[in-house]
Amino acid sequence: MKQRVFSGARPTGKQHLGNYLGAIQNYVKLQDEHECIYCVVDIHALTTPWNPNDLKDNIREMVLDWLAAGIDPKRSIVFTQSHVPEVTQLHTLFSMITPLGWLLRVPSFKEKARQFPENVNYGLVGYPVLMTADIALYKATVVPVGEDQVAHLELAREIVRRFNQLFGATFPEPQPRLTEYPMVVGLDGYRKMSKTLGNHIELAATPEETRRRILTAFTDPARRLRSDPGHPESCNVFHLYSFFDAVGQEAIARDCRAASIGCVGCKELLAQKVNEALAPFRERRAEIAARKGYVEDVLRDGAQRAEAIARSTMEEVMEKVGLAWNEVKPPKVSSGVTK
Ligand code: TRP
Repeated sequence: MKQRVFSGARPTGKQHLGNYLGAIQNYVKLQDEHECIYCVVDIHALTTPWNPNDLKDNIREMVLDWLAAGIDPKRSIVFTQSHVPEVTQLHTLFSMITPLGWLLRVPSFKEKARQFPENVNYGLVGYPVLMTADIALYKATVVPVGEDQVAHLELAREIVRRFNQLFGATFPEPQPRLTEYPMVVGLDGYRKMSKTLGNHIELAATPEETRRRILTAFTDPARRLRSDPGHPESCNVFHLYSFFDAVGQEAIARDCRAASIGCVGCKELLAQKVNEALAPFRERRAEIAARKGYVEDVLRDGAQRAEAIARSTMEEVMEKVGLAWNEVKPPKVSSGVTK
């Protein structure tokens, strides 16, 4: 039987090279040998201050990038977290068996609490509990994530372990699957590539925009003059280059050390390689974006398939924790309200 993969990403809109190399590329590959569920975690997006008007667009743009990159909605389930509300129910149940001490120790919590001191909310503390509910609801065993999520997964295993101890074997323990390129440094040359830091290269940008952004990149800080010999090992442009041209990088490194190529020349070469590599992606993205209602259909279908799994897990869970007094529980009816 195929192992089940679950991964979630906050809806951050158009994706960048760091997202692609660090996560999306891996999502695509995993589809070959696993049953994959990829979720846009829009509820997690609300653990830090948000603008209600931005969510829909951010979900749409991110999913467009996923699909253009090769996530196949026929093989994989692609859906929006809030469309399967059982996750909030499981989150509540998990919150009853998760000691507060476990949550207050999580490094990402401390970091967010420092970053947004006015927003140290109940929901923020529970972020990893909701993440555990995501994974457990679908009984996934493999979770492709970056280094920064390993602590969350450790906690997820502790929570499901405790649940299993208290109520009987229910959930498998999820394992992280680290990506090949755990950390892509941004154009500033020293921090992780991120949209908030503005040091990113958007996948869907035009070739000229891409070139102009790459020309702003920081390079080897020790190389001041064009005639100085460069140090490719401490140059982020070179580092980025190596992702796109494993063969040609040797020659570039040699030319850089010999000062026979300058930093601007190097950036022009990088821009060319990035644009070549992204051309098919960009073509597919434009094509998918032009199909009216396509992303919406993918997400609707994904939510339906996810819902079926979620419902079966929750029936089992409610029974086990003693909340299912089925003879009394009224059947679900629709509100009848249409808009
Ligand atoms: N915490 C993850 C992040 O910030 C997003 C996420 C939410 C997730 N639920 C998940 C990742 C479940 C993997 C599995 O990137």
